[in-house]
Amino acid sequence: MKKDLLSCQDLTRTDLENILELSAKLKAGRGKPNQPRPLEGKSVGTIFAKSSTRTRVSFEVGIYELGGHAVYMDQGKTQMGRGETIPDTAHVLERYLAGIVIRTFAQSDVEQLAANAKIPVINALTDDFHPCQVLTDVFTMLEYKGKTDGLRMAYLGDGSSNMANSLMLVSKLAGIDMTIAAPEEFRPRQDLLDLKFGPGSATWCSSVKDAMQDADFVYTDVWVSMGFEEESKRRMQILEPYRLDMNTLKMGKPDCKVLHCLPAHRGDEITDEVMDCPASIVFDQAENRLHVQKAIMSLLMG
Ligand code: CP
Ligand code: NVA
Repeated sequence: MKKDLLSCQDLTRTDLENILELSAKLKAGRGKPNQPRPLEGKSVGTIFAKSSTRTRVSFEVGIYELGGHAVYMDQGKTQMGRGETIPDTAHVLERYLAGIVIRTFAQSDVEQLAANAKIPVINALTDDFHPCQVLTDVFTMLEYKGKTDGLRMAYLGDGSSNMANSLMLVSKLAGIDMTIAAPEEFRPRQDLLDLKFGPGSATWCSSVKDAMQDADFVYTDVWVSMGFEEESKRRMQILEPYRLDMNTLKMGKPDCKVLHCLPAHRGDEITDEVMDCPASIVFDQAENRLHVQKAIMSLLMG
């Protein structure tokens, strides 16, 4: 594997398979005696410039369970918030830490941190990508279907979000055929639609019905991502037809399952009824963040 995980483009198909295999092993072994502790004696920094529930907690718990120690940093409260450069920060943190997990705004900041640090850097969400989430999503799909190649996934809503970007990449790598239903204003990135990156595919349409056809999974994400709050009103209006409700869910395969990275804005992109129905596997998905990130850290920092 490469030193860093900044987007799924850092991964080969073999890397993906190794992550999925180790995730399953760590999940099965959790709480049992003699589990691997590859981070024993090591400290991992976690830098957050944006809010988080799942990512912060699952990384901290994961680091602990792997024998390591997590050092949480609110990015704005570090000296970066007062103008210390990212390269200088990288040169300092690499003297203390075995790795850095970072959630921030610009993907280029994470790339700069990784380029200047000798230690691994893991992207825990930027405006562009959320690789740890989508690797978890593939792991969750694999658990439910026993394979990833040939699965069909519909994605509804903001096709321009970090989630849509990352899901396009991971779908291609994992052999999943992803169809994004999104309006022109929030259509997916053309370069990511066009990218050749494995056996799967990513296509865009404006029709929810077309995207849902034969879907094994339907995925949605918030209409207003962190950092885009000033666009809230316009987004809510334009994305309204893309709400995941029971009628839409019924357009997929009879056993179509519901995925959402969470947090959900109930009543906006997804109804209460769908969130709480038996087809919804969103809390299994949330749990899997822990297992998959433990696998990623073991492979990169162990
Ligand atoms: N899905 C996800 O990354 O959740 P948090 O924002 O709570 O970390
Ligand atoms: N697209 C969302 C994902 C949250 C996990 C955001 O960036 O806010």
